[in-house]
Amino acid sequence: MKHLLSIEQLSADEIVALVDSADALKARRGSHEQPLAGQTWALIFTKSSTRTRVSFEVGIRELGGFAMFLSSNDIQLGRGELIKDTARVLGRMVHGAVIRTYAQSDVDEFAEMSGIPTINALTDDEHPCQILADLQTVREKLGGWDGKKVAFIGDGFSNMTISWMWAAKRLGFELAVASPKACQPPAEFLAKLDAPNVTVTESPAAAVAGAHVINTDVWLSMGQEDQKEKELEFAGFQVNAELLKGAADGHIVLHCLPAYRGKEISEEVLEGHAGTIFQEAENRLHAQKAVIVALAASR
Ligand code: CP
Ligand code: NVA
Repeated sequence: MKHLLSIEQLSADEIVALVDSADALKARRGSHEQPLAGQTWALIFTKSSTRTRVSFEVGIRELGGFAMFLSSNDIQLGRGELIKDTARVLGRMVHGAVIRTYAQSDVDEFAEMSGIPTINALTDDEHPCQILADLQTVREKLGGWDGKKVAFIGDGFSNMTISWMWAAKRLGFELAVASPKACQPPAEFLAKLDAPNVTVTESPAAAVAGAHVINTDVWLSMGQEDQKEKELEFAGFQVNAELLKGAADGHIVLHCLPAYRGKEISEEVLEGHAGTIFQEAENRLHAQKAVIVALAASR
């Protein structure tokens, strides 16, 4: 594995190996090897971040490397320097790159032109690091993914849902996406996904029926904040105690955070499932360290 650009590009074996490695790194935190000794990794962020930035900075340091945070506003990228030029400069100076931005094509181009390991830290198309941490959390809490039903309630074609759909395709668990009609994945995407275990509905109750994992995310992703008409579509799509009555016994609730209480999730459900949701946030650190270790090994 040279880069982590998407869940789509991972095989089932690669996903399982990364989650296994994340578990091992979590168990050995503070006493594991430091494969990044002498290395500098750049974090290039065009969008805000708390969890992703902190977990990558801490993880790189714990693996023996130095993390250099570069807000796109502070480097020439923000003034219009091309990705391919930025990539060719950084590729000669740093050992790896973590990029959070809008277009997936920018991360793909950076990976191709820089020649250094490149990690997608969220684009409009995918959030692979988050989904690896989510999968780790599900396995920790429920013992595995086989035979589990996952429900995703909210925007059916966001970076989070797209990455979850590819994870379901690769790993074979049942995924029911409940989303307003206008926010559902387009037919061309579903044809490409070609996954009978992934279903899409307009009914949150149908998606949650018998589900072991109930997952949600903001209704308006970064960059969509002014799309107030889109937000109106989500009336009835809140994950709350009433909706969860139909879930399987022992179900868990995931939220990648940040959360907007009273919108996609109720205060009661978020706080009632805080143990899982903040474990999920912590697992970003372990999952991303696993990714970096895998990429460093293949340099
Ligand atoms: N879940 C997540 O990626 O959080 P941040 O936006 O804070 O990094
Ligand atoms: N879908 C959200 C995820 C935030 C971590 C967004 O892109 O804003």
